[in-house]
Amino acid sequence: MKDMVSMGLRHERGKLFVLDQQKLPHQELWLECKSPQEMVDLIHRLAVRGAPLIGVAAALELARYYERGATKAAVREAAGMLRVARPTAVNLMAAVDRMLAALAADELVKMAETIFDEDVALCEDMACHGELLIKDGDRILTHCNTGGLATVGIGTALGVIRRAFENGKRIHVYVDETRPLLQGARLTAWELTKLGIPFTLISDNMAGMLMAQKKIDIAFVGSDRIAANGDAANKIGTYSVAVLAHYHHVPFYVVAPYTTVDKSCATGADIPIEERNSDEIRGEAAPRGCAVYNPAFDVTPRKLITALVLNTGLA
Ligand code: MRU
Repeated sequence: MKDMVSMGLRHERGKLFVLDQQKLPHQELWLECKSPQEMVDLIHRLAVRGAPLIGVAAALELARYYERGATKAAVREAAGMLRVARPTAVNLMAAVDRMLAALAADELVKMAETIFDEDVALCEDMACHGELLIKDGDRILTHCNTGGLATVGIGTALGVIRRAFENGKRIHVYVDETRPLLQGARLTAWELTKLGIPFTLISDNMAGMLMAQKKIDIAFVGSDRIAANGDAANKIGTYSVAVLAHYHHVPFYVVAPYTTVDKSCATGADIPIEERNSDEIRGEAAPRGCAVYNPAFDVTPRKLITALVLNTGLA
């Protein structure tokens, strides 16, 4: 397999490395992934995360495994394990299914390279369409992390924001910290710092006040799965942002590639929502063992979405 490098994933001379996103922003630790089981574990603990990235990472690991001599039966078994590593992001299932189809034709390596290169190109296309929605001087709200760490290109929602900045628009980004795992505070803040894009970190419960004070002009988020009717699942808290944006007449855009669209889900109610470990919510603050509900994603109904920014354009 050829060498491929992104912000959070590297394939170099036959070895696969991931940037441990749980250690960011304080430590930039690259881990070598040596087996499909290791990749499953990395995805479970969100060392590798973001809907498009987990799909690409799973594809590269399957190709690497096959190149190292795994039988087709072993690759199939590994694919089954990776496919269910996280239930909401459909990009993962789509990538694994493409790899399984390629396995039959002995084109696993070619397909993994295609999936990687395609994700880079999809990000460019989304950025190109979405960037036009941003005006000079806009103050932009975003939620979770949707940048180079969540894809192998420049990102979905954050890619749009980045392109506007690179095109000379004077923007300011408000970054939701994104409870409970702080992808905004840890990862988006890290990316924006590296890119030199001006931003302010806020806690999730401040977005309403900022909108009421007319300090937010536009909102961009990503998605883990978009149903056939346009309802979109994304990181928990996205729905609250959408409701606030609707109330305050702030345009609210969901940016995603075609690999996130799942026509087999008629509406958002059909999208499986991952529930994660209770300790993620309890943290150090709550009494040990207290009852917790921890859905990792919520669904924003299409009527709250101004438009989807897809790689093909606005929908
Ligand atoms: O649980 P995570 O960190 O994988 O959740 C990520 C998100 O919710 C992103 O917004 C989504 O994957 C789209 S980003 C390209």
